[in-house]
Amino acid sequence: MTTTLTWLGHSTWLIDTAGQRVLIDPFLTGNPAATVTADQVTADFILVSHGHGDHVGDTVAIARRTGALVIANYEITEWLARQGVENVHAMNTGGAHPFPFGHLKLTIAHHTSMLPDGANGGNPVGFILRLADGRKLYHAADTGLFYDMKLIGDEGIDLAILPIGDNYTMGPDDALRAVQLIQPKRVIPTHYNTWELIAQDAHAWAARVRADSTAQAVVLKPGEVYRWE
Ligand code: NI
Ligand code: MN
Repeated sequence: MTTTLTWLGHSTWLIDTAGQRVLIDPFLTGNPAATVTADQVTADFILVSHGHGDHVGDTVAIARRTGALVIANYEITEWLARQGVENVHAMNTGGAHPFPFGHLKLTIAHHTSMLPDGANGGNPVGFILRLADGRKLYHAADTGLFYDMKLIGDEGIDLAILPIGDNYTMGPDDALRAVQLIQPKRVIPTHYNTWELIAQDAHAWAARVRADSTAQAVVLKPGEVYRWE
């Protein structure tokens, strides 16, 4: 089974798997790295990792237009319901649930989560997605390094998507340590080069990953599609 992952810039990913389109943290309007506009994107499901504007992004508009089911923590799904998004599924840290696109579990993430209007966005999360073919994807979302990444790695991660931008999240050094804790088969960096403040040389980071871990590092350009065979 081929699953494709499209990096839409920043921390926004479109995963096409098992005939379902899963959009993660759809920040397109106001995203200088975005390669599509919010009204061009289709989705069956939207996952929101935390309340910050560069992650909630265009969730309300895309969910209303497409009718996609939005999955997030309880505080964010309640907030989305108040914005007129009716099709929501609340989860919380450590909880897992089967969906048509795979088995989704929410992990901890060390970050914050206030929503754009100042509402409480609960705790930020990351995602472990077990695909229909059994392979596992870990999207860490916005987080600092944490030692429990070792527990996540113990699950057997085939592909990890990790932030490397620094300032708001892990930078390159801690993201390399994260790879060493998780020991994924492959890793793709995200949440960098959107703005000058989080500018990073992803290819230099990938070279360090190849030298200091067993993971295969893959660097994409915004808009690029990765065929995960
Ligand atoms: Ni954030
Ligand atoms: Mn962010």
